[in-house]
Amino acid sequence: MKISVARTALDKDRSELLAVLVPAKDWKAPWLSAGLRGALDVPVKLKDFAGDKLQKLLAYHGKQRVLFVGLGDKKKIDAETLRRAAAAATQKARQCKAATVSLALPPLATPNSQETGIAVGEGLVLGGYHYHGLKAPDKKLVKLKSAAVYLPKADSKFSAGLKRGSIGAEAQCFARDLGNSPGNVATPAMFAKEARKIGAAGGVTCKVIRLPELKKRKFGGLLGVNAGSTEPPVFLEMEYRPRSYKKTVCLVGKGLTFDSGGISLKPPGGMEEMKFDMCGGATVLATMKAIGRLRPAGVRVFGLVPSTDNMPSGSALKPGDVIKSYGGITIEVINTDAEGRLILADALGRAQELKPDYTIDLATLTGACVVALGHRATGLFSASDDLRDRLLEASKETHEPAWPLPHWDDYQEEMRSTVADIKNAGGRWGGAVTAFAFLKKFAGDLKHAHLDIAGTGWDMPKREYYEGGATGTKVRTLLRFLENLN
Ligand code: BES
Ligand code: MN
Ligand code: ZN
Repeated sequence: MKISVARTALDKDRSELLAVLVPAKDWKAPWLSAGLRGALDVPVKLKDFAGDKLQKLLAYHGKQRVLFVGLGDKKKIDAETLRRAAAAATQKARQCKAATVSLALPPLATPNSQETGIAVGEGLVLGGYHYHGLKAPDKKLVKLKSAAVYLPKADSKFSAGLKRGSIGAEAQCFARDLGNSPGNVATPAMFAKEARKIGAAGGVTCKVIRLPELKKRKFGGLLGVNAGSTEPPVFLEMEYRPRSYKKTVCLVGKGLTFDSGGISLKPPGGMEEMKFDMCGGATVLATMKAIGRLRPAGVRVFGLVPSTDNMPSGSALKPGDVIKSYGGITIEVINTDAEGRLILADALGRAQELKPDYTIDLATLTGACVVALGHRATGLFSASDDLRDRLLEASKETHEPAWPLPHWDDYQEEMRSTVADIKNAGGRWGGAVTAFAFLKKFAGDLKHAHLDIAGTGWDMPKREYYEGGATGTKVRTLLRFLENLN
């Protein structure tokens, strides 16, 4: 979809759907043409539309569909409201099979028009997203070709934000596509192919470490989890290195393409959802993709994605087995379903060799995190207050909620093993927290944060910019975190 700022007058617009954003009771609206104001007369008189926050009304003006979207109280319009209102336009365009959509913005009292541009760009792209999957092609489906944004007056900061927001959101849609793909399509090999494509597009480099090298270099966590599988594992290493940089950040994503639980097999009900267990890896790939296009200044970024499925078989890892992670720490495998932390252990060991200032891992790690926070917030763990606060700030600015959970060393006791340096599963309680206690051991001296996206990687409450399925969560947060380092 091509997104641009419109240069013609609003009353000359000929798009198949025109969306008009209206603050509450802003009926005089001198920025609107008389015709469009007229289209609101009856609905307003009949009290069918008052411009309440995200209230929608589909009307017709001349030969054009017009979607009025309320913004609520003029003084309280925030970025999330604009993101959702802009998404309402492309979502409706998809529903009425319009290929061209326009969006008219009122004058806004927001202090930062770049932020407004970002939110609108994100909303337009995310609202138009749809996963068609492997269904027969729908002949009636119309592809959204273009979106034009009408502004009360020209604004170069808004235009720059619009571009920036759409690039981040396109990457988020890429993460959604990967997440929604079934486990027999989104295999480790497919992850490697997508990473290669990102490398080939420029801006970032990509290395794929395959089975022989994984064995030679003793990636014991990844090899252990892969032992029961017929799909070969991969370890992806991507890098963005600008000419000069002050900070190095390492992103790590769990790329578990299907989690059956292994020998500690999961119950069948809902097991199909475990195709989403690679959402952390998808977010890291997508973030690297966006970085290759945006080329942020002053920060070097690594993206590490260990990828495999977790399957039972005669060669699979068994409860009681002891494996040695890439960093040399031995692990007693109590439960083969606690596999995400095993592949992350290798990645954190590798991260230490890269000497980053900050390391952030993203993983659909524990059902316990979903119990704790539901499907609205990501669990955030970090022993570094600085890193925690930076991530909280970025997640607030992008409206991808995250909330801190405990990181104290006391929890290490639950992970004590009698035969290895650590065991991979604690008791029944506090599962999200003991999972972090495990990861912490492998992060060593790294300034490290862990984002448990088990509740937010898919199945979040729907809204204008989210149709269900994989969310592509945290692409926006990570990009913002990196930009805020400057
Ligand atoms: N991928 C799952 C976590 C998960 C479960 C995410 C449900 C989203 C929804 C992970 O590999 C897992 O199985 N974790 C176990 C850990 C336990 C065995 C210590 C869990 O949460 O039950
Ligand atoms: Mn598991
Ligand atoms: Zn898993």
